[in-house]
Amino acid sequence: MEIKISPSMLASDYANLQTELEKCEKGGADLIHLDVMDGHFVPNISIGAPVIAAMKRVCCVPFDVHLMISDPYLYIDEFVKAGADIITFHIESESDTDKTIDKILDAGCKAALAVKPGTPVDTVYPYLDKLSMVLVMTVEPGFGGQSFMESTMPKIQALREKCPDLDIQVDGGINTDTVKIAGAAGANVFVAGSAVFKSDNPAQMIQTLKLNASR
Ligand code: DX5
Ligand code: ZN
Repeated sequence: MEIKISPSMLASDYANLQTELEKCEKGGADLIHLDVMDGHFVPNISIGAPVIAAMKRVCCVPFDVHLMISDPYLYIDEFVKAGADIITFHIESESDTDKTIDKILDAGCKAALAVKPGTPVDTVYPYLDKLSMVLVMTVEPGFGGQSFMESTMPKIQALREKCPDLDIQVDGGINTDTVKIAGAAGANVFVAGSAVFKSDNPAQMIQTLKLNASR
């Protein structure tokens, strides 16, 4: 499987988004991860579509928009218009899963489903035919800088066994050590916020994560 690194802009310097995005491009980031939080599905509020649209104007790397919002169905058009290439939403959200996936696909975007640490991974199985990726959260969604939950690894192993060619993403607590653990379990798409943006050299950190993931 191709290894992909996806820096999470949640940990970047919001006063200098263009410069931060340039560091990601320079480091060979495969995706840009954009965390949208509504203060309801998760106890935190982050950015919305207007900020993503502004970032899109200055970045060529594909955008993966991670919606941590209660009713993603209502906002699909807005995020597609803002420039999302992939829209990832939670199976635990209130929206109808099939309808939301279809809305994303009809808009010409790729669809991905996310599961929180406590949600069994087989809940996504009925939708696999329509999904480009599954996100297995390795922390409780809502905040950056939390510790990687190794207890989620069996879910990745089970999903990889079932789907040898699916993009399996992990998000939360990914660093130069935990990227190896998640990679060995079968993940191939790695979101990293703090590890990239709190490092002295974000571009180099992206390369190191990629190297460690494939070891
Ligand atoms: C958390 C977000 C993550 C977050 C990861 O709810 O979904 O994308 O930015 O941050 P780190 O890599 O610092 O754990
Ligand atoms: Zn995220």
